[in-house]
Amino acid sequence: MRIIRSKAALRTLTDEWLRGGETIGVVPTMGALHAGHLSLVGEAKAKTDRVIVTLFVNPRQFNNPDDLENYPRTEDSDAIKLAPFAVDVLYIPDPDQIYPDGFAINISVSGVSEGLCGAARPGHFDGVATVVSKLLLQTAADEAFFGEKDYQQLQVVTRLAKDLDLKTKIIGCETVREPDGLAMSSRNLRLGTEARKVAPVVHHVLQDMAGKLSQGAPLSTLLPDAQQKLKAAGFGTLDYLELRSAEGLDPLETADRPARLFIAVWLDGVRLIDNIAIPAT
Ligand code: PAJ
Repeated sequence: MRIIRSKAALRTLTDEWLRGGETIGVVPTMGALHAGHLSLVGEAKAKTDRVIVTLFVNPRQFNNPDDLENYPRTEDSDAIKLAPFAVDVLYIPDPDQIYPDGFAINISVSGVSEGLCGAARPGHFDGVATVVSKLLLQTAADEAFFGEKDYQQLQVVTRLAKDLDLKTKIIGCETVREPDGLAMSSRNLRLGTEARKVAPVVHHVLQDMAGKLSQGAPLSTLLPDAQQKLKAAGFGTLDYLELRSAEGLDPLETADRPARLFIAVWLDGVRLIDNIAIPAT
């Protein structure tokens, strides 16, 4: 696995691969890799001839300076975790390779960026859309792999690739969970011992609601009980607990078409997000 830090060096390699008729897969990450990220790498290896993993902690998508400051940076152990996958390139762009002096572009995807994390984290999805556009173009990827864990992000990136006529096909991959149901996330490392034990309640609440929604129950009849369960378990502020259409993310009261239930809730100073599919009733 080669570690590359400049877009020029990356371009030399991708040009060579494309000339040879090989396909390129990319897995964009911010590092602190865990089994969730690695599942995307496995999918990319299975589907494309060449695989690039990108590692860039993107300042533009953090709306809270402390969150950016505290974001785990574990480059060496990330490289070790990737070794068994025989990835071709770990691309760790120097910041000026993404944001050169005078950088003046902002990519904003309307519609699917609004509400949910878009409301709770102003500017976040502009930062994501801008950096992902650059990473897809710099890597010349035929396919890009994103987790359903960040389902709204997956929708934003899908819309972005479509509207900008990028050649890259966006592939969504299932959420990888700990054995107790907690969705894997780099931020889980910041949970204290007690909080870590409580955290899977998020998934259990979603599962319980998903069962009832898929039998036709309206969301509003389920919210008080869910809020009570979270409060009793020790959770803090609930940023949102909302039902949306799986395509387009329109707000729903009943799962009368393929839908997803989304949550963002605070625990022990950490913001946990998760979502679950609801089959159409
Ligand atoms: P990051 O949080 O590092 O996540 C990188 C990719 O891993 C994303 O597509 C995310 O959805 C996926 N992922 C995270 N946890 C997962 C899990 N438990 N199961 C499956 N996939 C999981 O998301 C970002 O970085 C950034 O916003 C990025 C797209 C790299 C742009 O900066």
